[in-house]
Amino acid sequence: MKITIIGTGYVGLVTGTCFAEFGHHVTCVDKDQNKISNLLEGIMPIYEPGLDLLVEKNCKEGRLSFTTTLAEAVSSAEAVFLAVGTPSSRRGDGYADLTYIYEATKEIAAELKGYTVIVDKSTVPVGTADQVARIIRETNPDAEFDVASNPEFLREGAAINDFMRPDRVVIGVESDRAENVLRDIYKPLFLRETPIVRTDVKTAELTKYAANAFLATKISFINEIALLCDSIGANVTDLAKGIGMDGRIGSKFLHPGPGYGGSCFPKDTLALLRIAQEHGQSLRIIEATVEVNAAQKAMMVKKIRDALGGDEAGKKLAVLGLTFKPETDDMRDAPAITILPALLEKGANITAHDPQGVSEAKHVLPQTISYVEDAYEACRDADAVILMTEWNQYRALDFDRLKEIMKGNVFIDLRNVYTPKEMQEAGFDYTGVGTC
Ligand code: UGA
Repeated sequence: MKITIIGTGYVGLVTGTCFAEFGHHVTCVDKDQNKISNLLEGIMPIYEPGLDLLVEKNCKEGRLSFTTTLAEAVSSAEAVFLAVGTPSSRRGDGYADLTYIYEATKEIAAELKGYTVIVDKSTVPVGTADQVARIIRETNPDAEFDVASNPEFLREGAAINDFMRPDRVVIGVESDRAENVLRDIYKPLFLRETPIVRTDVKTAELTKYAANAFLATKISFINEIALLCDSIGANVTDLAKGIGMDGRIGSKFLHPGPGYGGSCFPKDTLALLRIAQEHGQSLRIIEATVEVNAAQKAMMVKKIRDALGGDEAGKKLAVLGLTFKPETDDMRDAPAITILPALLEKGANITAHDPQGVSEAKHVLPQTISYVEDAYEACRDADAVILMTEWNQYRALDFDRLKEIMKGNVFIDLRNVYTPKEMQEAGFDYTGVGTC
């Protein structure tokens, strides 16, 4: 099948590459000449494990190509996926900015030939597909098309696996014809018995927001319970096991931490609140989720301060990990962006290490932070280590080496990578999140 993907950002590039891997012929279109030139040379615009090899393989085998020219790619396609960015609008009011979606739609509309399914892959507010259809009808009254919604549930850092082995595929369609095209595209997954959930278009659009909001709520829930564990002297890791083994609750997304970040949960929870407001509905649980997440980041500053004896002024802090989660270079809404400036403001000195995030971090964190290329180098002469992001390389630190090079022995583990028992035995003054 011939598929065109508009937008070679994170979603577009992963989707296009994986469809090519399924055996389809995929053209990825982007206006950014530089990005396309780089992709043609095998240079990825993002860090995503395994993506570069898959792009190279499918380009070599002739199923994946990149271009800045939309016309030909659209007119020959049976399905066109919209995967352009939908950032939060600059007004900061929770609205998703749909400028790129609508611009791309107009361009596509003019080039459509024969029956084509236009698929929203970007996360868009409910009703966007209707707008896309309206724009196409107005721009090209003769076009034969359907608009569908096919939300993505990919996690950064695990996107290829999530795409190839999803728990389910949601397709929102208004006609059997569009459904059949999408079913053909996802046939390789269908053969692996991946459930395909057919809904109407609006339901599919809302499903994406509801999924992210639910996951964010799970995180805020366990973060609050972790704080209660801290007060009571209970252990949240054991508690999470105790509740997570109940199949109705599930063990995933019950890891406490410094608050959720990234390009999705913070943006999508706010957008969902905005959608509800527009429909005269309040979503109090989601409101609380957002509030709890902001409070969690502030609470981490207090936790660090308390671990340092109440004052961070003049202390040398080693920060391990800066990105919002491991296996990405993405710093968007990373908890480090809130926590580190608050510590610097009170006079702390910070040396940081991150395997992939440093060049992004330099744009969004205060310039007074020093960066080093080796995790142990960051810890040299440090009063305290703050484990901010659970990269694998921080999971088996050499404690003897650490103690030798550190000045102090405070270890603040915002991801509960270690247990209080092992750290105390190793001679550290250890603080976790809800594990005391
Ligand atoms: C999230 C969803 O998991 C994907 O299903 C969805 O497709 C994607 O958003 C999207 O809308 O595009 P992502 O933002 O890449 O994926 O990352 P997650 O692995 O979900 O983590 C998000 C944040 O929650 C991170 O800051 C992570 O550290 C935090 N988190 C996650 C916790 O604090 N505790 C947990 O138990 C799990």
